[in-house]
Amino acid sequence: MRAVVVYESMYGNTHLVADAIGAGLRTAFDVSVVPVSEASPATIANADLVVVGGPTHMHSMSRATTRKWAVQAANRPLGGLNVEPGALGPGLREWFGSLGRYAVKAAAFDTRLHGPAAMTGRASKAVTRLLRAHGFDVVAQPESFLVTKQDRLQPEETTRAREWGTRLAASLAPSQAPLV
Ligand SMILES: Cc1cc2nc3c(=O)[nH]c(=O)nc-3n(C[C@H](O)[C@H](O)[C@H](O)COP(=O)(O)O)c2cc1C
Repeated sequence: MRAVVVYESMYGNTHLVADAIGAGLRTAFDVSVVPVSEASPATIANADLVVVGGPTHMHSMSRATTRKWAVQAANRPLGGLNVEPGALGPGLREWFGSLGRYAVKAAAFDTRLHGPAAMTGRASKAVTRLLRAHGFDVVAQPESFLVTKQDRLQPEETTRAREWGTRLAASLAPSQAPLV
């Protein structure tokens, strides 16, 4: 079975989470982890599971303006953040605009600041909505992985992401045939 993890990332945190989810999914799937700029419709159509995630910007998915602000923030003196290749876009929002309909199992995740989701927003809710709108069969609740105010992944979040991927894989693996 094939799984594709599609991610968008400005500073690398969502990329790290996507890699960790991919590692968890490998317990049951052949996995590709691809930036949104390389996620072609054919890649999606041929998958058995698609997992899509990006950073939360202004309570939802990024836009061209928020991506520009993110790059400007990284370029400030003492910003100390590296910007991922392709950070200026297109992002998940534009990617969905280029997709057709897919009868493929799917799940969504995001990265966001620590705090109640009602205060921070979470991109994974919007991603889930768009997955459903494009015909995907959403098989898991959206999940958030947390960054610090300095835009660094909180400790243990990659472990939690790997475990989330493992649980997702287990929930979809064909049930084992009885041994006798
Ligand atoms: C322009 C901008 C807007 C943001 N808005 C929010 C927000 O509304 N809620 C939130 O929890 N985090 C917000 N953040 C923090 C991002 O979620 C955080 O930078 C992201 O998870 C880091 O992931 P990345 O390294 O993959 O880009 C914002 C960051 C930027 C740059």
